[in-house]
Amino acid sequence: MTLAVSITVRPHTSRTPPSQRSALLNDPGFGKVFTDHMVTIKWTAENGWHDAELRPRGPLALDPAAAALHYAQEIFEGLKAYRRPDGEVVLFRPEENARRFAQSAARMAMPAVPEPLFLAAIETLVRTDCDWIPDGEGSLYLRPFMFATEPFLGVRPAAEYLFCVIASPVGAYFRGGAKPIKVWVASAFSRAAPGGTGAAKCGGNYAASLLAQAEAVQNGCDQVVFLDAARHRWIEELGGMNVFFVMADGRLVTPPLGGTILAGITRGSILTLARDAGLTVEERPYSLPQFQDDAESGALREAFACGTAAVVAAIGEVRHANGGFTISDGGAGEVTRRLREELVGLQRGLVEDRHGWIRTLC
Ligand code: PLP
Ligand code: COI
Repeated sequence: MTLAVSITVRPHTSRTPPSQRSALLNDPGFGKVFTDHMVTIKWTAENGWHDAELRPRGPLALDPAAAALHYAQEIFEGLKAYRRPDGEVVLFRPEENARRFAQSAARMAMPAVPEPLFLAAIETLVRTDCDWIPDGEGSLYLRPFMFATEPFLGVRPAAEYLFCVIASPVGAYFRGGAKPIKVWVASAFSRAAPGGTGAAKCGGNYAASLLAQAEAVQNGCDQVVFLDAARHRWIEELGGMNVFFVMADGRLVTPPLGGTILAGITRGSILTLARDAGLTVEERPYSLPQFQDDAESGALREAFACGTAAVVAAIGEVRHANGGFTISDGGAGEVTRRLREELVGLQRGLVEDRHGWIRTLC
């Protein structure tokens, strides 16, 4: 692969000592521990992408008028690097993250990072910091992001940006580990409206979700469920995950992509794996009242959340302003367990990669 922009490597002169690193990797939690390096690449309207470097991770100098701080021109991605039992380091479908990043950029009037440059930035960082990938069930969570750096207070697309990749060794996203999660249905808040930015992975969507997420936590739940903004009837997605429903007759249902939800790469992968396994999958609107009726009548057996951070997490209980309901016996169901096993097995090298989803780095 020839890159129009090459990444200059300036390694850290005093990396974290191995003993300290091992202690940090012991129980990293999610998104709290960071590796020694980062990649930064600048973009200006005049020079395009330039000054690409891998360098020691550290604070960024930013003009207080940087447009991202005022008008939220910011997008990000999330993917993981895995260390397999044989020591091989792999990524799962990183090209999909590159594509989605370009789509998010287009929606936010930002320049696209060419796919080869996006992938090279990630691979350079993972190769340099591969000692930070936890063994066993942990992984190295990669966070590519881009924001407007131009110091300018007029409201228009900025003319300067920084693309950056950082890495964080992680364990399970939910503190309860594999225990089924509880979800809270937001009735007073919407995440995204038609024509808005719901399908883009932009920071603003998450800022808008935080109060609803805090309400979920106050109500003893792990995640918030958003309904459609117009009627507050159709289930869309969770604060940071897509959602699936498993019917008693074996059908798998998930809300359709209509511009208001994120096209999750885990969601897409699960649809394919489920079809491969002979399950009937339906991308169609599913309402909250129907969800409750189906759970109570037994027509629905399981529900689960899925995403890069969360992987596949069974939903055991749903709470909302007028009550709530349990899904089956509140435990993790068989279909959820099998799909999770299949996906994790693929990422970990225990299941054959029939679709060419695995990119081996070293
Ligand atoms: N929906 C939202 C709002 C998310 O933040 C995420 C996480 O990235 C997902 C869905 C799942 O997307 P993916 O499977 O690509 O991680
Ligand atoms: C991810 O799964 O990568 C996300 O961005 C979601 C967030 C909850 C960490």
